[in-house]
Amino acid sequence: MENPITAKCCINQPWFVLLVFFVFCIELLRFDYSGFTAKKSVLDDNHGNLVDTQVSLPHDFTQTSNDSISPLPKTDESMKMAHREEELNVGTEVDSCLGRYIFVHDLPSRFNKDLVNNCRLLTRGTNKNMCPYLDNFGFGPEIDNPEDVLMNNSWFLTNQFLLEVIFHNKMKRYECLTNDSSIASAVFVPFYAGLDMSLYLWGFNITVRDSASLALVKWLSEKPEWKRMWGRDHFSVAGRIAWDFRRQSDNESDWGSKLRFLPESKNMSMLSIESSSWNNDIAIPYPTCFHPSKDSDIFQWQDRMRRQKRRYLFSFAGAPRTEYQNSIRGKIIDQCLASKNQCKLLDCKGATNCDNPVNVMRVFKSSVFCLQPPGDSYTRRSIFDSILAGCIPVFFHPGTAYAQYIWHLPKNHTQYSVYIPVKDLREWKINLNETLVRIPEDRILALREEVIKLIPKVVYAGSRSGLETLEDSFDIAVKGILERIESVRIMIREGKDPSIGFADGDDYKYTFPPYGDGI
Ligand SMILES: *[C@@H]1O[C@H](CO)[C@@H](O)[C@H](O)[C@H]1NC(C)=O
Ligand SMILES: *[C@@H]1O[C@H](CO)[C@@H](O)[C@H](O)[C@H]1NC(C)=O
Ligand SMILES: *[C@@H]1O[C@H](CO)[C@@H](O)[C@H](O)[C@H]1NC(C)=O
Ligand SMILES: *[C@@H]1O[C@H](CO)[C@@H](O)[C@H](O)[C@H]1NC(C)=O
Ligand SMILES: *[C@@H]1O[C@H](CO)[C@@H](O)[C@H](O)[C@H]1NC(C)=O
Ligand SMILES: *[C@@H]1O[C@H](CO)[C@@H](O)[C@H](O)[C@H]1NC(C)=O
Ligand SMILES: *[C@@H]1O[C@H](CO)[C@@H](O)[C@H](O)[C@H]1NC(C)=O
Ligand SMILES: *[C@@H]1O[C@H](CO)[C@@H](O)[C@H](O)[C@H]1NC(C)=O
Repeated sequence: MENPITAKCCINQPWFVLLVFFVFCIELLRFDYSGFTAKKSVLDDNHGNLVDTQVSLPHDFTQTSNDSISPLPKTDESMKMAHREEELNVGTEVDSCLGRYIFVHDLPSRFNKDLVNNCRLLTRGTNKNMCPYLDNFGFGPEIDNPEDVLMNNSWFLTNQFLLEVIFHNKMKRYECLTNDSSIASAVFVPFYAGLDMSLYLWGFNITVRDSASLALVKWLSEKPEWKRMWGRDHFSVAGRIAWDFRRQSDNESDWGSKLRFLPESKNMSMLSIESSSWNNDIAIPYPTCFHPSKDSDIFQWQDRMRRQKRRYLFSFAGAPRTEYQNSIRGKIIDQCLASKNQCKLLDCKGATNCDNPVNVMRVFKSSVFCLQPPGDSYTRRSIFDSILAGCIPVFFHPGTAYAQYIWHLPKNHTQYSVYIPVKDLREWKINLNETLVRIPEDRILALREEVIKLIPKVVYAGSRSGLETLEDSFDIAVKGILERIESVRIMIREGKDPSIGFADGDDYKYTFPPYGDGI
């Protein structure tokens, strides 16, 4: 045989003959398995040993064959394979996880667990004790339901920055996990980038701010999973806005870390509550406080929101601060106050605790329109609170939602929102009350119905296995990332350069295209 090791030594040793025989058998098994894709490997997972043997083999079959870059769900090729498998295994069903397997990296604890265990250190920047918010898989403490404003057993005091913890915990219960990375369509990297960053955003030098990022990419790129697609099948989830990881220079006065500009990181995708202008950063909904466990919880809530009496034409929840006097926020607050009982202002820096969804929902579900101007960043969790309440969001900037939640919100934004573009405050000529009061009743009904239909898509469901038939925000995000990675895989297979279009900058996202008259 042409095995080089055989030629050099050992050929006369009986133990070696046994070893060669053993390896040969395993290789036969492996060949068989890789040829017929994922189905068999599930069985392997259930039988433990075989998976372990495969992992420890020195020769990785998957790296020498183009077919094996991964299972390919929607191609003719894989359909044929699945079909062939069916013929061969009469009576067994097609693997419903085919093309959906996700391998989760077991990162050193400094990248996730330690941050949660040391939650007392996370107060910086939020001035809150973050520890209670980490309860219930990151949903936070369950909250009371005074006056039946909310629904029993579905609402939690969820912190808006804990998406990475929530997502990781949901991923642990994802139905198509695999420990065999060779059959995985995607590799999840459970790095709590936002919690790590929140420790160092204020008052730390860039060496400290970048430390975990550099250690992470070093760890990842040394793993066998990296080489398969140079990280292009890897993704992570961050609970802070992507700009916090997009420091463009090493000037100490610049904001954030340079995680997303590191060469390895550029090959990866990151999902977060707000994306940057690079298209390997993808926005997914902020976690709200509503975590229903069953389809019926959603249907019940949707029904309530349809029947809800709405006494305010519009409302705004936010902080009136002097520095906003010349911002669109200042204008909005002025006009809200001037509109008397047509508008309800929820002063989040005053008497009202806007972290408590009882206060926010009480107002939003009594309002027809909810104003969503940009805040410190383009996006706000309030967008999703307003959707939950069946309150039609009013946007003023394309970066607040339209350019962000491309997987979760309809492409045609006139279906679910009102758009009043404000390019320049000096040109502000709008009277919000007059503009909104002119919108006809049938249009309001159509908009509201569309908003209410979005409710399941923007919640992170509370049950172990997700909702029964409805897709929640997590399901849609997973589907989105699998499709994105699959399209990269197709490019590789076709011999194209996978970096084309992968991490392009697109400042157009934050400019004002002619989105129609908005009304
Ligand atoms: C919710 O729970 C409270 C207290 O346990 C109870 O009084 C109330 O009737 C419940 N509401 C609903 C809609 O089940
Ligand atoms: C992966 O391996 C870990 C540790 O051996 C085990 O607890 C887990 O159940 C395995 N997961 C799957 C999907 O096989
Ligand atoms: C950055 O800060 C750390 C500790 O805060 C310090 O040990 C280190 O010397 C600093 N590095 C630079 C380059 O200033
Ligand atoms: C760093 O940024 C500050 C503030 O923007 C600026 O004044 C300074 O010149 C910059 N330093 C360098 C070396 O670019
Ligand atoms: C990023 O991906 C390209 C292939 O598209 C590869 O050539 C490059 O080495 C990768 N970078 C790193 C740091 O792995
Ligand atoms: C509408 O708002 C303007 C200020 O923007 C105010 O002067 C006017 O009284 C309001 N109209 C009503 C009917 O509330
Ligand atoms: C977008 O939605 C609106 C309202 O439903 C509809 O009138 C319009 O035709 C749609 N536009 C496109 C391009 O589908
Ligand atoms: C593997 O893919 C490369 C690039 O896509 C191609 O050039 C090569 O011919 C393929 N090899 C096989 C065995 O299909």
